[in-house]
Amino acid sequence: MEPRERVMEAAERWLAGRPTWLVRSPGRVNLIGEHTDYNEGFVLPMAIDRAIWIALRRRTDEWVRAVALDFGGEACAFPLSRLEKGGPAWSEYLKGVAWALQQAGFPLQGWEGVIAGDLPIGAGLSSSAALEMAVARAFAAVSGWGWDVKTMALLGRRAENEWVGVQCGIMDQMICAGGAAGQAMLLDCRTLEFTHVPLPAGCAVVVLDTGTRRGLVSSAYNQRRAQCQMAADALGVPALRDAGFEALEAAAGRLGAEVYRRARHVIGENARTLQAAEAMRRGDAQELGRLMNASHISLRDDFEVSGPALDAVVECAWEHPACLGARMTGAGFAGCAIALIDEGRAQEFVEQVADCFRRRTGMEPLAYVCRASDGASAWTFQGKGPSGA
Ligand code: GLA
Repeated sequence: MEPRERVMEAAERWLAGRPTWLVRSPGRVNLIGEHTDYNEGFVLPMAIDRAIWIALRRRTDEWVRAVALDFGGEACAFPLSRLEKGGPAWSEYLKGVAWALQQAGFPLQGWEGVIAGDLPIGAGLSSSAALEMAVARAFAAVSGWGWDVKTMALLGRRAENEWVGVQCGIMDQMICAGGAAGQAMLLDCRTLEFTHVPLPAGCAVVVLDTGTRRGLVSSAYNQRRAQCQMAADALGVPALRDAGFEALEAAAGRLGAEVYRRARHVIGENARTLQAAEAMRRGDAQELGRLMNASHISLRDDFEVSGPALDAVVECAWEHPACLGARMTGAGFAGCAIALIDEGRAQEFVEQVADCFRRRTGMEPLAYVCRASDGASAWTFQGKGPSGA
């Protein structure tokens, strides 16, 4: 059953009355612009058609009660005026968002709801940001204030940084909050200004999930961030966004080989991301694919955040004639890659790349075409069915 039906059905049984709101918040893939967001650079993600759903109703008191169907029906309950750590790990995202919203002065109303999704957790498709933006949408719906993409994304990130304790950048929350169907988002991570860029006609994006998982907290993510800051400091710029190859080469002797390579990735990746958006605007899928390939090689060799499974699945994709480009997506180390392919050959691509990966690694992948979808949305029930709100 689809998650939308699952939450609606469970809500009828579990809530004290019928749900009055339905919230959907998508996962994302990043087409290009990896490990550039915390360097105040550019990213080009798209929201996907896999999402977290919440069916909920407003409460008249200050309590939030939620049930997570994908965690065996585990429940949590907390009062908004006394937020404390502890309880199921997923409930920290609910409390963290409530905490960040209240810190920013948003008046919050309690609610009760049922949560479920079809977004794999910890796979690099941004399940954390999807949950944060779903919860922010739920609070916005029951508390009666409007949806501002930038504000909500920043508060979601604050919840993740300060309550959950993961030092992520702003990309995931921005695309979950502000994605648009059929389009990717070119985002300037310094100003948070964004434009939507249509996917070139005739091609599809395939998610290649290696099945391997690695949490951000335990990964080398924070170490990469620190190395980027070291490079920026050595180059005398606020962030690597402000550096070019000339300055990098001039400072090479002072950087050390590893930090030099980290910076080389970021500087190159920012340029590739802007070129990719231009290629998309021209409808040039070949060029977009070429840039995605270059991005993977740079992440693998210079930034060193790929991994054996990601490299294997990307190589299988590269070898297929329908492939225009392929790369790891998200923080890296494990999880998912994406491929840009000729839309008409999606079925054979998915089957053959899965076969290739199985043969090379002995592991079972999951490959599927994904569509660019809208960002976090809420519908209210008036009369028979849900209507936009
Ligand atoms: C994770 C983080 C993002 C971004 C990517 C790497 O997804 O949450 O902010 O840094 O890694 O591009």
